[in-house]
Amino acid sequence: MILPFKPTLLGLAISAAAVNWLPAQTTNPIPLLHIKAYQITGKVSPTLYGLMTEEINFSYEGGLYGELIRNRTFKANPAKPVFWDAVGGATISLDTNQPLNAALDVNLKLDASTATKNSPAGIANCGYWGIPVRPKTDYRVSFYAKADGAFAGPVTVAIASADGKMTFASAEVSGLTGDWKKFDVTLKTKKLKPSKDNVFTLATTAPGTIWLQQVSLFPSTYKDRVNGDRVDISQLLADEQPKFLRFPGGNYLEGDNLKEHFDWKKTIGPLEQRPGHRSPWGYWSTDGFGLPEFLGWCEDLNMEPVLAVFAGYTLNHQHVKPGPDLAPYVQDALDEIEYVAGETNTTWGAKRARDGHPAPFNLRYVEIGNEDEFDESGSYDERFTQFYDAIKAKYPQLQCISTVGNEQPEKKRVHNRKPDVLDEHYYRSVNDFERESPTRFEKYDRTGPKIFVGEWAAYEDTMPWSKKSESLAPTPSFKAALGDAAWMTALERNSDIIVMQCYAPLLVNVNPGGRQWRPNLIGYDALNSYGSPSYYAQKMFSTHHGDEILATDSQNIPADPTSKLFFDATRDSQTGKIILKVVNCLGTPQPVRIQISGVVVAAKGQTVVMKADSLKETNSIQEPKKIVPVTEKVKGLGADFTRTFPPYSITVLELDAK
Ligand code: AHR
Repeated sequence: MILPFKPTLLGLAISAAAVNWLPAQTTNPIPLLHIKAYQITGKVSPTLYGLMTEEINFSYEGGLYGELIRNRTFKANPAKPVFWDAVGGATISLDTNQPLNAALDVNLKLDASTATKNSPAGIANCGYWGIPVRPKTDYRVSFYAKADGAFAGPVTVAIASADGKMTFASAEVSGLTGDWKKFDVTLKTKKLKPSKDNVFTLATTAPGTIWLQQVSLFPSTYKDRVNGDRVDISQLLADEQPKFLRFPGGNYLEGDNLKEHFDWKKTIGPLEQRPGHRSPWGYWSTDGFGLPEFLGWCEDLNMEPVLAVFAGYTLNHQHVKPGPDLAPYVQDALDEIEYVAGETNTTWGAKRARDGHPAPFNLRYVEIGNEDEFDESGSYDERFTQFYDAIKAKYPQLQCISTVGNEQPEKKRVHNRKPDVLDEHYYRSVNDFERESPTRFEKYDRTGPKIFVGEWAAYEDTMPWSKKSESLAPTPSFKAALGDAAWMTALERNSDIIVMQCYAPLLVNVNPGGRQWRPNLIGYDALNSYGSPSYYAQKMFSTHHGDEILATDSQNIPADPTSKLFFDATRDSQTGKIILKVVNCLGTPQPVRIQISGVVVAAKGQTVVMKADSLKETNSIQEPKKIVPVTEKVKGLGADFTRTFPPYSITVLELDAK
């Protein structure tokens, strides 16, 4: 029998028995959610919702990083200048004989000896599946060039349609000499239709030979940051209000081998001093998006950096022996921490200031490695210890994250030291998340290390690393979003121990060849971007929650055979507002009786609902907003009410309570 509630003068309803009240067995078969507003089980971690990122799926180059030229330093392929074409009878080749410097030691030799006044010769770059053109936009072109003695210039740079029929903007650059010199010019587009099947060209009507290096084309960037980020993708990310950024990986931190790990010292300073390296995801990175750019990104989006330091293990299952062999890598990590957080009177803090950022960044978390459970040698315990001791000795305030969590066998975890935080990764099917969500983290020891769910995503049916996933859309369907939301109710409900969580991977270039993993949160081509239903599920959770976790219990939860209805409740301690999340994974409307004890609840409130007609529905470049959350004012709420949740739906219900 359900206890009665009596209406108050204000049109509010109040629970008759506020404390230690548990609903008795009901004969009503509909599910019953009971929110015990008098019982706070913990504080919601203020850093619960954040981002994880690495160079995968053309996340930075060909994605977030503003640069539009592909292979700007000509190092992507040592055999030929890939992504560059000779035009107008020119010939092009790679030349190592007159390097710009030790970092950029191979350049493009453009033989334009056939050029005439009426027949220019030059080069064209196709960008990352096209060069986007927008109306009334400035594009900053820069490049290093030198020419043979006979060359009398100038060169013309332009953005043109790939079929050569249209030139959208162009400018002349003169003054090339026998010495390397940097050139800058701005291209301005007029009123035009946005398009992406375009190329960047550099050509001349004067015969001669030209050498080029670091040919760059930048549109305006998010918050006008120099060497900054693409505006539309940044805005999607900012809209999630993320609190932290875990970087630089992921596998990208480790590299396929020792030579190819993320060697942060080679990713700082002037762009032309960065040699670049191959990402383990199979393509070249110029490292134009290096450590300072990760930090700039944190600053732009007001995110706390969660810095992953290379810990001597690489993806070819090799590890650096703990002890003296590992010591230089430990020192590198200490230097990196100093670069991020040191004052300007420290060696690396001063370098950061020289790179344009005198103020230290606020660093709390350092992650030691990535997924070190794959190190079959069992060396992680010792490697972690060596890093942990050195970091704690110099920076006792820092929290050290172990990359081997409770989802891994006990023997793989760290035992020599007690990590402050464990990073756990969950790439699981929707079904697995439905099974695990109701109880997984409830079983965790509250006195143990805190938990960082540093990579996770629900996949519909096909595992991310399976060949079959290549035939699916790069971003997930609504089915996966339901699994994600079910999982997030567990993360939020247990955010007394889960200090941070982030979906992975975050970004994907949707062009064929642009993806190495599936599912991914946000998709884009050269011109447009969109959030998947999973993105909107993240956003619904990250932008609607309180700071207190409320105790809940339930009856008659539908199951088939795993639970199909998921929920959690938090409260904003400032306003008293209760935020209930309900995820209905069934394809039928689900009436739910909701009882809230311990507070007075207003009849009017607000819902944010995202739903789909079928599990397969999704968003795409063509239909970017097919499935999005809808916010509505609602009535009929109170301390005891029944509400019907739509089939396949994720609902945030905001209740005004006192
Ligand atoms: O997110 C894709 C990859 O999954 C990450 O690089 C790695 O850490 C994990 O195995």
